[in-house]
Amino acid sequence: MALQFISAEEAASYINHDDVVGFSGFTPAGAVKTIPVAIGEKAKLEHEQGRPFKIGVITGASTGDSLDGSLARAEAIKFRTPYQSNSDLRNLINAGKADYFDSHLSVVGQNIRYGFLGKINWGIIEACDVTEQGEIVLTTGVGISPTICKTADRLLIELNSFHPGALRGIHDIYVPADPPHRREIPIYKPSDRAGSEIIKVDPSKIAGVVLTHQADEVGAFSKTNDITETIGRNVAEFLSAELKAGRIPSSFLPLQSGVGNIANAVMAALGAHKGIPDFEMYTEVIQDSVISLMEQGRVTFASGCSLTVSPEMLKQVYDNLRFFHDRMVLRPQEISNSPEIARRIGIISINTALEADLFGNINSTSVMGRKMMNGIGGSGDFTRNAYISIFTCPSVAKGGKISAFVPMVSHTDHSEHSVQIIITEQGIADLRSKSPKAKMDAIINNCVHPDYRQALRDYASLAGGDTHTPCTLAAAFGMHLELEKSGDMRNVNWADSFRK
Ligand code: COA
Repeated sequence: MALQFISAEEAASYINHDDVVGFSGFTPAGAVKTIPVAIGEKAKLEHEQGRPFKIGVITGASTGDSLDGSLARAEAIKFRTPYQSNSDLRNLINAGKADYFDSHLSVVGQNIRYGFLGKINWGIIEACDVTEQGEIVLTTGVGISPTICKTADRLLIELNSFHPGALRGIHDIYVPADPPHRREIPIYKPSDRAGSEIIKVDPSKIAGVVLTHQADEVGAFSKTNDITETIGRNVAEFLSAELKAGRIPSSFLPLQSGVGNIANAVMAALGAHKGIPDFEMYTEVIQDSVISLMEQGRVTFASGCSLTVSPEMLKQVYDNLRFFHDRMVLRPQEISNSPEIARRIGIISINTALEADLFGNINSTSVMGRKMMNGIGGSGDFTRNAYISIFTCPSVAKGGKISAFVPMVSHTDHSEHSVQIIITEQGIADLRSKSPKAKMDAIINNCVHPDYRQALRDYASLAGGDTHTPCTLAAAFGMHLELEKSGDMRNVNWADSFRK
């Protein structure tokens, strides 16, 4: 069946108000770039004519500005799931103008197949190749594309010539059967393959193909600084000591490393540390730092869901694609983030917290309990099932006015039952096999910034000293309330709250 080549505007004309659209992409990698801009323009025109136009937007994770940014600025989003990091969309969500549900990334595909997200009217997928037989080769992100291709009524393809057709073979497309027929996923080490190189669809489902030539909209990382470098070194020191103590096998274990600037600094420090052997990754996002470590031979294999690297780094990969074909695989997120595999192969997870409390509960998503930052992403998929779960963060934010450690987190993403190690530039708190009281001491003594240690020790003793879980509800949010009152948590005065 001949493919229909159409313009982005024609593709957008097929999308109607209230449609639910599944988009390709996981981070800006592999996200479509021209059709969503045209849908945003269509929404603006509809709004000018006094007609409603909003769509449900489901993706793998965050996307690029052409997708989330264009649709947010056009106020064309009815609901959005499962993760985002675009400032315009974040503002829309926090203003209550777009419903957002923040979800573990490993469950999005199966939740679509189970029918939990309703009917998917359209799938819009970026490809580096598509054939008349309905064979689709994805680009730099796999995300939920295999499930979208399976479940959407109709498909639109953005055929992006920026990505070489030679990417074929880098993907491993495997979608588990749904219960009660599901079996174990046959992946026993990061380099194992379980599926196919392509997604196969009924070609009659493809309503049109839009030709583009555009790079992924991946932003540059901030340069590492003293704080992130020290955090990275502390992580490397901790893992090297675990190896020496025999708590990590001598062949080491696959690493999962989160997103963002700290994650990049941690990877660089691990690569530089002599006590860490060459290692493999079973992770979600393959960032710039991983590519550099592969070139140095420090990372011997990386399994991920997306290749989210800067344009310069992507060029480097494409110039040397044969080398990376042998060292990298991109999988659907329900496989890259599979709790079953993470538990079985024994990954070491390293993710970032915004805020932690004195017992090790972690807030990664919601500033002051109400302002959505990005979302939980895959951090829960890995943390809950890791061999060793680590959280990192700077001990303070905003020039010291905010302590990352508070008596009680204002929102909980990861509970103290899943969090084993917390690492800041101050040091390492090992929470394994400790009571809440002992965790509190470990965190205050090792991770908290010196400016806040006495205040938190005072809280601990006023809140119950040597009891099992020192906690006083009237004061537990005292530091947050102080931030709202004076703009600086250092001014906290426990006397007021403990008198109540
Ligand atoms: N209260 C208020 N603001 C805080 C804060 C707190 N307790 N802690 C940090 N911040 C601010 C910082 O000051 C900074 O803001 P600024 O840029 O205006 O100074 C911002 O929050 C975080 O900075 P950012 O550069 O985005 O940090 P990062 O790149 O290290 O990302 C997370 C940190 C937590 C936002 C990010 O890792 C994330 O979204 N995690 C959840 C998803 C996840 O873990 N995915 C990986 C799974 S594979």
